[in-house]
Amino acid sequence: MKPAPALQQIPSGVFCAGDYEAHARRRLDANAWAYFSSHAGDGITAQANLAAWQAIELLPRMLRSAAGPRTARELLGRPLPWPVLVAPMALQRMAHADGELATALAASAQGAGMVLSSQASLPLETVAAAVRTDVDRGPLWLQLYFLADRGATLDLVQRAEAAGFEALVITVDAAVRAARPAEQRAGFRLPAGIGTVNLPPPAPAGRLSLQDMMAQAPGWADVAWLRARTSLPVLLKGVLHPGDVREAVALAVDGLIVSNHGGRTLDTAAATARALPAALEAAGGTVPVLVDGGIRRGSDVFKALALGAQGVLVGRPVLWGLATAGAAGAAHVLRLLRDEFEVTMAQCGATGLADIGPDLLVR
Ligand code: FNR
Ligand code: LAC
Repeated sequence: MKPAPALQQIPSGVFCAGDYEAHARRRLDANAWAYFSSHAGDGITAQANLAAWQAIELLPRMLRSAAGPRTARELLGRPLPWPVLVAPMALQRMAHADGELATALAASAQGAGMVLSSQASLPLETVAAAVRTDVDRGPLWLQLYFLADRGATLDLVQRAEAAGFEALVITVDAAVRAARPAEQRAGFRLPAGIGTVNLPPPAPAGRLSLQDMMAQAPGWADVAWLRARTSLPVLLKGVLHPGDVREAVALAVDGLIVSNHGGRTLDTAAATARALPAALEAAGGTVPVLVDGGIRRGSDVFKALALGAQGVLVGRPVLWGLATAGAAGAAHVLRLLRDEFEVTMAQCGATGLADIGPDLLVR
């Protein structure tokens, strides 16, 4: 039986995903808000992600069809009712007591995929069990980092397989942690009773030096190593450079997520909407390529697909909904995006995903 998440009210006057940001900020304490809203450096990349989607202009077709848009596709052999997944985000119990459980239920209810962070604040088995048998849900994936202890990495992989996760997402853009000014200013610390419950306890040594981080940092050989040890599809998240896309394809990874971690790792790294075309060209249609960073409107989802992505991940807006109204708020954010996406399709004359192509964008 599913644990029932605490009911919460959706506030009035919320008409788009972005409207939830102010509500979330009001509800969260300064410590939690600093963590969820933070970015690396001056926030140039975090801002550029948004601006780059906004700058792409649509070139809609008229008088095409009155039929309602069909939004479903397959992704790595699983049905995806519409091409959006919730991005992996750590420590969601800091946003709401129901944490990742609420987010997974929301994603399932709205037919979106769910990528659970390995730094989740609830056991991965609990989250998977709550949604695994839902019929209309999207894919259920687990994100992981290579842990310094490779045996512990494999334990996590085996737990993911046993719990029913359908793919592994290896995040490759955060081996070296950047300072995040908002977290530093807030003196960010984990609240009592909230932690990364799926991982071995962190080493008590305190801050790692850059030397330590680099010594533990994974390489392409680790990707091959993991690839050989799981039956699950493996995607890499955090790739921007076409050269890395080619390396990944050569190692037979099953998919790629073009991402800059929402601007939380390397500031002034390329906006994902701008990095995506070259990444797609390098992939050459061999593996599905997804993208995240700055998706705030259904029209942004449409633009990503028109450029050639198979789907998008949405990060912060889901947390804003979660923080504001638990599962109901997260579900509402996804519903708003889905409605906007379908309206955009209809307005552009696309009756199915196959109609969404580069000809519908200004070059
Ligand atoms: C993240 N992100 C992230 N990525 C990842 O691979 N593992 C993780 O544990 C986390 N944790 C995390 C926490 C928080 C609070 C945020 C905001 C983000 C990055 C995330 O998956 C995604 O790449 C970005 O959030 C996408 O950008 P937007 O949609 O937030 O602009
Ligand atoms: C972050 C880490 C957990 O972005 O990926 O906070």
